[in-house]
Parts: sequence; structure tokens; C-alpha cells
Amino acid sequence: PELLDPDKEHTLVLIKPDAYERGLTGEILRRIEVKGYRLKGLKVKKASRELLTAHYVEHKDQPFFPALLDYMSSGPLVAVVVEGDRVIEGFRTMMGQTNPTLAAPGTIRGDLGRDWKTPAVQNVVHGSDSPTSADREIALWFPELVFKD
Ligand code: PPS
Repeated sequence: PELLDPDKEHTLVLIKPDAYERGLTGEILRRIEVKGYRLKGLKVKKASRELLTAHYVEHKDQPFFPALLDYMSSGPLVAVVVEGDRVIEGFRTMMGQTNPTLAAPGTIRGDLGRDWKTPAVQNVVHGSDSPTSADREIALWFPELVFKD
């Protein structure tokens, strides 16, 4: 089986449904690769509400949670496992702030994100926010890449 090297750092990236629909997948993967990170897992998937509820469990009491689930289940998305030195922090820097209007130019959200008056902010990408989250999220989206005892 393909398994991730436990001595290397990994993060889970989601290219959200609006970005996939807009044909931004290649642009986002290009940015990840030219930065020097490596793609270790990649799939196009229409996520179930069950999977998304598990993924966003920390935010389940937030007012935006129903809109976030509607948005994330609105069509296929691309899930990616990315490997690299300090990749969790590094990809967060590449994404920019949550709100695309506030995200700096040069970041993925700053360059590509939209902040229209839709129920959910369409901010193009997700990246794990900590090593604990990364392990949990990679196990959810890519169980085939993770050792289970
Ligand atoms: S918080 O409250 O500080 O935890 O919020 P934040 O970390 O910025 O966001 C948590 C995730 O919820 C998404 N989010 C939203 N989605 C849609 N609409 C609104 N209004 C909204 N506010 C926050 C945000 O993008 C985070 O999801 P991911 O997928 O990790 O980007």
C-alpha cells in the first residue's frame, strides 16, 4: 500500500467546489508544486454531508456552519495530501486570510477568492491548521494512506 512517510510533515488541502468548477485546480496545484511541496495524494470527490460534518466538527456550533456545509457539498472538490518542510504553516501562509477581501494579494485567496454576498464565503481552499488537525483530516479523506493499528 502507498503510505505516508511518518518522518515528513503533511497537510490536507481542499480545493473547494467553486474553485474546481471555475477551473482553478491546475493554478492551485502549480503554486503548491513551484513552492517545492510534493503531492502525495489527490482525488476528485463529491463530499457527503457526513464527511464534511466530521471534517468541520470544531465549527459545528458556528452560525455559518449550515451555509459552509451547503457550499462544500455543492459539487465535486479536490482533496490533496501535500508533503514538505513546515508545509502546514507554509500552506496557511500561501492561502491568506479566511475572508478573500482581506487576504493579501499574492495569496491564493487574495488572488482568486470571491467575497460576494453568498451565504458562504467562497474562499477557494482549505488547509489544515495544526499537526493534530492534519493527522485527523488526512485519516478522514485518505484512510488508504494512513496506518491503522
Ligand atoms: S473561526 O471562527 O476563527 O474558527 O473561523 P475560521 O478559522 O476563520 O473559519 C473556520 C472555517 O469556516 C470557514 N468559514 C466560513 N465559510 C463560509 N462562510 C463563512 N461566513 C465562513 N466563516 C468561516 C473558514 O473558511 C474555515 O473553513 P476552511 O475550509 O478551513 O477554510
